[in-house]
Amino acid sequence: MSLTIEEMAVFCKKKGFVYPNSEIYGGLSGFFDYGPLGVELKNNLKQAWWNYHVKRRDDIVGIDGSILANPKVWVASGHISNFTDILIECKKCHSRERADTVVEEKTKLSADGLNVKQLQELILKHHLKCPKCNSDFSEPSQFNLMFQTHVGPKQNEESIAYLRPETAQLIFANFKNILDTSRVKLPFGIAQIGKAFRNEIAPRNFLFRCREFEQMEIEYFVHPNHLQDCPYLRDIQNVEILTYSAEMQEKDLEPQKFKMKELLEKKIIKLSWHAYWLATEYNFFMQLGINPHNIRIRQHKKSELAHYASDCWDLEYKFPFGWKELQGIADRSDFDLKQHIKHSGKDLSIYDEEKKQKIIPLVIAEPSLGLDRSFLLLMYEAYYDDKERGNIVLKLPRQLTPYYCALFPLVKNKPELVAFAEEVYKDIKTSYSCYYDESGSVGRRYARADEIGVKYCITIDFDSLDDKQVTIRDRDTTKQERIPISKLKEQLYHLYQK
Ligand code: GAP
Repeated sequence: MSLTIEEMAVFCKKKGFVYPNSEIYGGLSGFFDYGPLGVELKNNLKQAWWNYHVKRRDDIVGIDGSILANPKVWVASGHISNFTDILIECKKCHSRERADTVVEEKTKLSADGLNVKQLQELILKHHLKCPKCNSDFSEPSQFNLMFQTHVGPKQNEESIAYLRPETAQLIFANFKNILDTSRVKLPFGIAQIGKAFRNEIAPRNFLFRCREFEQMEIEYFVHPNHLQDCPYLRDIQNVEILTYSAEMQEKDLEPQKFKMKELLEKKIIKLSWHAYWLATEYNFFMQLGINPHNIRIRQHKKSELAHYASDCWDLEYKFPFGWKELQGIADRSDFDLKQHIKHSGKDLSIYDEEKKQKIIPLVIAEPSLGLDRSFLLLMYEAYYDDKERGNIVLKLPRQLTPYYCALFPLVKNKPELVAFAEEVYKDIKTSYSCYYDESGSVGRRYARADEIGVKYCITIDFDSLDDKQVTIRDRDTTKQERIPISKLKEQLYHLYQK
């Protein structure tokens, strides 16, 4: 049985992956700090995402935009007027909740996309009360999730600025700069990794819904006349994914496995570019060894679509608290570029040499992945309580785990052995993340290494001084192999590439 989210939070704190923010002062709800191991795992995940989406492709470039921007960006994007959740407040204890969450938790009905009136009807129909003091709620109302601050020493209406609620808008706001200064040609994408902030009404489920989090996003621009001309379709047409379309949800059918080509033939997914990005994002998790049974794609019902989206599919993960959104892959069409053209008065079109006219490219797919939710997924996929070994084994992907290897001298009181072990350690450390551990029995050191996901433990024993060999032990199989020290780095490289 997998860990509850509360147990996962305890494990992450105990092992130095994630701490509650400002805990010594009582904490701050919805904020977390990554510890020594967490920051390594998170950075490795960012690097893997960047390599897969930017470095290894010719059609995507990156940016790193700032967190604050001219507030007109958020007026144009629609966030100032539309970026809201529906709030209810207890009439007695004044605790505030998200109306849809309360309805879903108490009635087990889906409240996705319901409006103020529909939520109020359900609250009255099911006599829903405040979970804290059992009193009535006030009428639901819209609550804007944008965090406000002031820029500069004068603090008035004009100095108001907002912490970005998504990284995406910085991509649109820089669109012209990128066109003018890089060699991108349609179809192309712009990627960004960075912090986003949302004043969530009720942050919950540890890293799943926080007020400060990170996103890894791409806006992928396509010529409006070539929406079905994805040249990479052949690469993904046989990718098979558990699928839950809007129609299946409306008809109360079970999710079903489909190949991407079937989804396009049956027009469950309408545009080939959208299908391509869904499969590409799914494959990102597959190449990290994630269990395919725990990932599915789910289409948003009409009522759920964000103000900018004409279609949207989520990649969902089976968390212990249910199937939940890991990544949104929305068709934003030309909504954002047109809005920024309108509000800035600047020309953000592209000149089409073939047609000899200006065009506004379309974003058929905006893969927008939450870094913290992906981190949580990795921890759930990796966590294994090995009863035989008597310890937790964190089976993190070898490319991402905080420490790829650890080096142990068999004993710590033999200077010759220790000197030799230190020499080997220094050498490995030039190429791989590795730590040195000489305390306690080797069995105890193995257990400690397993619990934080170390893939290979290397032991230097008395024989090593003579035969110049070491023992290398695999975290997942516990198999041990004796190899010459001269081949150690080569072997670690070979195992990394496997
Ligand atoms: N640019 C599109 C966009 O921001 P979104 O579905 O609102 O779309 C994208 O967010 C991803 O960001 C989500 O799929 C999720 O992984 C992550 N995310 C959103 N809100 C979050 C929160 N409060 N805490 C943690 N991650 C969040």
